[in-house]
Amino acid sequence: MPATAAPNNDARLPRHVAIIMDGNGRWAEQRGKFRVSGHKAGVKSVRAAVTFGYKLGLDALTLFAFSSENWRRPEEEVSALMSLFIAVLGSEVRKLHHNNIRLRIIGDRSAFAPHLQRKINDAERLTANNTGLTLNIAANYGGRWDITQAARLLAEQVAGGELKAEDITEEQLDKHIQMAELAPVDLLIRTGGEQRISNFLLWQLAYAEFYFTPVLWPDFGEDAFSEAIAAFVSRERRFGCTGAQIRELLAQKA
Ligand code: IPE
Ligand code: IPE
Ligand code: MG
Repeated sequence: MPATAAPNNDARLPRHVAIIMDGNGRWAEQRGKFRVSGHKAGVKSVRAAVTFGYKLGLDALTLFAFSSENWRRPEEEVSALMSLFIAVLGSEVRKLHHNNIRLRIIGDRSAFAPHLQRKINDAERLTANNTGLTLNIAANYGGRWDITQAARLLAEQVAGGELKAEDITEEQLDKHIQMAELAPVDLLIRTGGEQRISNFLLWQLAYAEFYFTPVLWPDFGEDAFSEAIAAFVSRERRFGCTGAQIRELLAQKA
C-alpha cells in the first residue's frame, strides 16, 4: 500500500478536509437579496469553519473560494467577489497569524490584479512559518489546471535534460501538484446540495470520502461541520483492500 493511502490515525478523524463552499447565491435569492450579500454572509461561515478545523486539530483545511470557471459569471459579481477577497485578506490575516495558522492560496494567481497578487504574497510570507492549521484557499483554481501545470513542469525538466520521460512516475507528478507536501485530503464536503466536483481537486481526491449536504454555505456552522465529521468517522476506508484486511490492520494499531 503506498504511504499516502494508509488509514490516517487511530482516532480516525480526518487530517485534511476540503470544502466546496456552495449555495451563497441561492441563500441570498431566498431572502430577496442580491447574490453578493450571500457571498458576504458566507465569510462568517469561513471563519466558523476555520475555528472548528483548528479546534478539531486538522493539519489542513482547503476551501474552494473561486473556480477557474467562475470568471464566466456576470462582471459585477466577479468584481464584487474580488473586492470581498481583498477586504477579507486585509481584515483576517493578522488574526490568522495570531492563531498560528499558515495561509496558502492555491490556484493560478497570475490572473489576479497586481495589488491582489501582492496582498496574497504578503499574507503567505507573514504566516509561512506558522505551525498550526494550514488553511488553503483555492482561488482561480481548477483541478485540470493543477494537473496541467504539474505536467508542464515535468516537461520542462525533460526538455532541460534533468529527467528522462521514462522516469516519470505518479510520485514525480505528485510532487508538482498543489499541496503535495500536505496530508492527503481525507474528506471532501460540498454544501448547497449539488453532487459534483466542479473541477475542484481532481488528483488529490483519489481516496477522499465525499459528503454532500443540502445546507447552503452561509448556514454551514459548527453543527453542520460536526455532522460531516461524524459521517466520516462512521465510514470504513478500504484503499483497495478488503474490509477484513482493514479491520485487522486497525486492530494491530490499537
Ligand atoms: C458559491 O456559491 C460561491 C462561489 C462560487 C464564489 P454560489 O455563488 O455558487 O451559490 P449558488 O450555487 O448560486 O447558490
Ligand atoms: C464551485 O461552485 C466553485 C466554488 C464553490 C468556488 P459553482 O457554483 O461555481 O459550481 P457549479 O457551477 O454549480 O458546478
Ligand atoms: Mg454554486
